[in-house]
Amino acid sequence: MKTDLLKGKTVVVTAGGTQEAIDPVRFIGNKSSGKMGYAIAEQAALAGARTILVSAPTHLEVPYGVEFVPVQSACDMQKQVEAVYEECDAVIMAAAVADFRVAEAAERKIKKMEHMSLELVKNPDILKGLGEKKTHQKLIGFAAETNDVIEYGRAKVRNKNLDMLVANDVSKENAGFNVDTNEVTFIYPGEQITNLPLMSKQDVAKRIIAAVAEL
Ligand code: PMT
Repeated sequence: MKTDLLKGKTVVVTAGGTQEAIDPVRFIGNKSSGKMGYAIAEQAALAGARTILVSAPTHLEVPYGVEFVPVQSACDMQKQVEAVYEECDAVIMAAAVADFRVAEAAERKIKKMEHMSLELVKNPDILKGLGEKKTHQKLIGFAAETNDVIEYGRAKVRNKNLDMLVANDVSKENAGFNVDTNEVTFIYPGEQITNLPLMSKQDVAKRIIAAVAEL
């Protein structure tokens, strides 16, 4: 349903799991399908926002009315999000960003061998970088945790200078990666938290957009 909740605002949404190249045909990836981020982008557009979806590879259709920026790696994602940061009012980072990348991806396909090891180096923390140079933007992060969800979530709100964090316990059935439903908790700076029951990712996305409009 269309609303005017975010009319006149520009919202950047990230989605999917970044892919870190090993060679031209292989990568390190994760289980993110992009469903959560695409649902948020769809709801942001329906709420009247100019919506820019910066997405790692997925099998999903780009929602109607959304500007699409495809990326592959964490470094690509950082570059594209930073390019539009100044002009946006909110960034919602639902992407599962790889914390490490291969130090030097091979230019040619690596041939079979008995043993092989990869040297990994740390990727930039995109959200933390945005938090450090925040001016007028509202920053909404996600946290994928398997234990101590609220405690780790609160630490992320502080460390990344967030206005809101959407924490999901990805060890729960029907929540988190590659399912159509999610069960999340909104964590704000200070003590305030809001627990939501299990619901479709579209409904979670509607609640996130309503919360962002409040911010
Ligand atoms: O895509 P789906 O299959 O629908 O699954 C949805 C989801 C589980 C991927 C989503 O709900 C979710 O939890 N996304 C965040 C996953 C994650 O990377 O969590 P994190 O706790 O590792 O990272 C915390 C925050 O920092 C996230 O907003 C992340 O986008 C950001 N981050 C992380 C690492 C990094 N190098 N740069 C970042 O900006």
